[in-house]
Amino acid sequence: MKKTIRDIDWNGKRALVRCDFNVPLNDEGLITDDTRIKAALPTIQYLSEQGAKVILMSHLGRPKGEPKDEFSLAPVAVRLSDLLDMPIMFAASDDVVDEGVVDAVEKLEPGDIALLENLRFRKEEEKNDPDFSKALAGLGDVFVQEAFGTAHRAHASTAGVADYIPAVSGFLIEKEVKFLGDAVSNPERPFVAIMGGAKVSDKILVIENLLEKVDSLIIGGGMMFTFYKAMGLEIGKSILDEEHVEVAAGLIKKAEEKGVNLLLPVDTVCASEFSNDAEKKTVDREEIPADMMGMDIGPKSIELFTSAIKEAKTVVWNGPMGVFEMPSFAEGTKAVAKALAESDCVSVIGGGDSAAAVEQFGFADKVTHISTGGGASLEFLEGKTLPGIAVIQDI
Ligand code: 3PG
Repeated sequence: MKKTIRDIDWNGKRALVRCDFNVPLNDEGLITDDTRIKAALPTIQYLSEQGAKVILMSHLGRPKGEPKDEFSLAPVAVRLSDLLDMPIMFAASDDVVDEGVVDAVEKLEPGDIALLENLRFRKEEEKNDPDFSKALAGLGDVFVQEAFGTAHRAHASTAGVADYIPAVSGFLIEKEVKFLGDAVSNPERPFVAIMGGAKVSDKILVIENLLEKVDSLIIGGGMMFTFYKAMGLEIGKSILDEEHVEVAAGLIKKAEEKGVNLLLPVDTVCASEFSNDAEKKTVDREEIPADMMGMDIGPKSIELFTSAIKEAKTVVWNGPMGVFEMPSFAEGTKAVAKALAESDCVSVIGGGDSAAAVEQFGFADKVTHISTGGGASLEFLEGKTLPGIAVIQDI
């Protein structure tokens, strides 16, 4: 069991909180999805109400160790202030920590909230530089790890800082670890994993790990064609991860050995070109035309997958079933999201595209948990120890 913010008497203490405010911005610098900011609010509010002086820090994008205006956290400070309905002191220094920032943090009163500038304005951040870690740690009495989305990175602010001050988890980390962890290590059965997305290579380790644990494994998305190829089927112009055909064959074999019910789509919606308006045709998987490409799973597959989901007590989903950004090829992904929303199973959605799909189709409040981590949730499902979680003190 990891220590959490509940285990600390915060009155007057400085809470140095690593959040993942890496939110999408549009061309005008406006935040287009504030889910990650909202996800950290319960921790921030709790710390402030408990009388902590709250110092928030995050990265945004990949400015590569240099200050760049378009990656400033200024819009996040404004959104936070709106959401919390209180002022946020934005410590707008390109050096992230300097004398001015130290002075400003010293002036905070219990309950006040400050936000540092983008940690990745300093190249020392991604290098996990000890001096930078120490300088950050000097701003707080206790380090609060709340950045699940960045917990797979061993950076100064996610890991190094814990060498200098005690580390506890915030509510978001606690929730992510509980849902993703319980789903994988202690699932109510039947346990079904649904894997999608374009490339087998991105998901090999997750699939390998989950094959040890699941009762059924559903494969959809672009990577289904690499599996088809491994089964000796013709895939026309569909996306192929050529280097991983052998790996896919190995995974099919491993599923057999482990007695896992591997469900691959039995039909596919094909298109003449990669476009929403392309001519389309639904065919069985043995009949993909040589001049067409598969873009989504077909209705028979939807039925197959939906009935597996109906019987499941736990489902973990990572990766879309088709090119869901194009309405013509969104049916498969939508149907899976709907089946999860209608099921009373524990449904855990990995971050990234599947999270976006569940949001887009309006089912976000009908699933058990949507992870705020893309890469982090994948590495977690691979069974890896995330460096940002490893540093949190045990009780
Ligand atoms: C994410 O969006 O996955 C995290 O914020 C980590 O960002 P990174 O991949 O740039 O480290």
